[in-house]
Amino acid sequence: MTFDFWLHLLPQTFVVLWAVSLQLYYVNVYAVQNNQLNEAQGCDFSQGKWVVDDPYYPLYDASSDCPFIVQGFDCLRNGRPDQDYLKYRWKPSGCDLPRFDGMKFLETYRGKKIVFVGDSISDNMWQSLACLLHITVPTSNYTLTRLTNHRYVFTFLEYEVSIIWVKDGYLVDTFRDREKGRILKLDSITSGNLWSGDVLIFNTYHWWFHTGKTPIYFQVGNEIMKDMDNVEAFKIGLTTWSNWIDSNINPSKTTVIFQGIAAAHSGENDCLKQTKPEEGSKPSYPGVDIVQSVLSNMKNHVYWLDITLQTQLRIDGHPSIYTGRGTSYEDCSHWCLAGAPDTWNEILYAVLLES
Ligand SMILES: *[C@@H]1O[C@H](CO)[C@@H](O)[C@H](O)[C@H]1NC(C)=O
Repeated sequence: MTFDFWLHLLPQTFVVLWAVSLQLYYVNVYAVQNNQLNEAQGCDFSQGKWVVDDPYYPLYDASSDCPFIVQGFDCLRNGRPDQDYLKYRWKPSGCDLPRFDGMKFLETYRGKKIVFVGDSISDNMWQSLACLLHITVPTSNYTLTRLTNHRYVFTFLEYEVSIIWVKDGYLVDTFRDREKGRILKLDSITSGNLWSGDVLIFNTYHWWFHTGKTPIYFQVGNEIMKDMDNVEAFKIGLTTWSNWIDSNINPSKTTVIFQGIAAAHSGENDCLKQTKPEEGSKPSYPGVDIVQSVLSNMKNHVYWLDITLQTQLRIDGHPSIYTGRGTSYEDCSHWCLAGAPDTWNEILYAVLLES
């Protein structure tokens, strides 16, 4: 591999300095060379299977190790009776994911900001990362601050590392019209001033397809349309986001990652009483082709954290009726913690730190 070849030619000390500044760049270079948005370290983390890895997993006990995890994700605390679902590790087909080293993460990102921007699936991943780092340094002081209803900051004070969640379901602008209600402006982004950090991890998908939450009106330019096809609207919105990134983000300063689509299991095959992951392959999931095509047309190459197959297989990983809201409410969209989002952070770690 070209990159490795060059590394061998560099003096050892130089390598150390370079390793820090180049590791992010490496992701981009690699993506260009291989035209593979979801590949890092020569391995495609999106394909693989779930294997039992007991007692290494779960990585933590949410209730006792990370009391800041919200009740809706802490399935054991909400009475989930089975525990096998906690013991799985994602095994990519061509490699193993490196073990998550929280100390290395904190030291490498000292003084830096990791920002998740997106819906509550971003929240799921953000809380997992906060916990994975907190259990590394349980006696280190931290603050968890809600700046607004849309901005939450977890800071490891001694490391000056901030992990931030900016709640933003669509990424593009929405506004309320007195008569029409919510209007989604598919070609406009004005909240990008909040998207500032050393690593940005975006996600948007589910809000576009929630029938209850999907706005009826869409605006492009001055034209306001009713009942646009959701898939088409998602495509236009995601393209607007990609253009914003290409115009506003300097890839040598900021690493951009797109957290792909996490499968939901609502509907006929719902997640109630599921205790084991599935195996094998799965049919393509709606919208994944759009994500792939938008990301591959970008000038800035972002890493695609492609979690669709692994989540499709985790029908057992949702809170189901153990959300703390009573058994009449079932959640087959979010994920129990400990659980699948820890794997997304293991991939994040591999991409950011082990390249
Ligand atoms: C946490 O903060 C307290 C109070 O400011 C301080 O005494 C303590 O040394 C801090 N802990 C660490 C690990 O730095």
